[in-house]
Amino acid sequence: MRKPLVVGNWKMNGSRESARDLLRAVIAKETEGLDLMVCPPFIFIDMAAELVKASGIELAAQNLASHQVGAFTGEVSAEMLVEFGCSHTLVGHSERRVLFGETDEIVAAKFVSALNGGLAPILCVGESLAQREAGETDLVVMQQLEEVLKVAGIAGFERSIVAYEPVWAIGTGKSATAEEAETVHRLIRSRLAEESKQVGDKIRVLYGGSVKPENAKELFAMDNIDGALVGGASLDAKAFIEICEAAAK
Ligand code: PGA
Repeated sequence: MRKPLVVGNWKMNGSRESARDLLRAVIAKETEGLDLMVCPPFIFIDMAAELVKASGIELAAQNLASHQVGAFTGEVSAEMLVEFGCSHTLVGHSERRVLFGETDEIVAAKFVSALNGGLAPILCVGESLAQREAGETDLVVMQQLEEVLKVAGIAGFERSIVAYEPVWAIGTGKSATAEEAETVHRLIRSRLAEESKQVGDKIRVLYGGSVKPENAKELFAMDNIDGALVGGASLDAKAFIEICEAAAK
């Protein structure tokens, strides 16, 4: 049995005070029966680490450098993130891919950089609306996965998590249906299982894209949906807690 996991991606939102209040509210209602993670902006990670200390909540970064150390102005390394309390990091979120030009190659380098620095990557994959409409969903997602498999090997997935996030569902209020998501989740798992049955069975595949309390239950009822990567709704403690409760059932 894979333990459900819910990850809240705060993106570039909040102030020191609002981030503190949000995290305190989530800690106060910490749900049993699932793993819970939040991804604060870099600058709030230190504060968040202090707050989550006595809880079971873990911290993930939203992004990291593809290099380990050196003259890379403005970048943050995996090792720094570990030192400041992160156990995981998102890699290849579609906003990084689309808005900041991260290619499959850069995403793969960041995946390896995370592992080398001691962070478990949460690899985000997903197709655009045009790609879905052209019937290319499977192709695109497999290509994104393949690029990482090529450099990290299946061993790289032993501690990792995959998040299927259709780009057209992110921040739009329009989620994939549970069946649409399940089809892609099954594909991801079976591709990894081809390389290692053990990794395929064990790896958690999260769904992301307009997850809300209203659709969480239906999504989590699917065999291959092991939790969620939540954006907008993770900024609202009540909604986020309800999603966590749905995952724990
Ligand atoms: P959303 O974002 O829940 O606001 O759609 C999901 C994500 O970007 O991870």
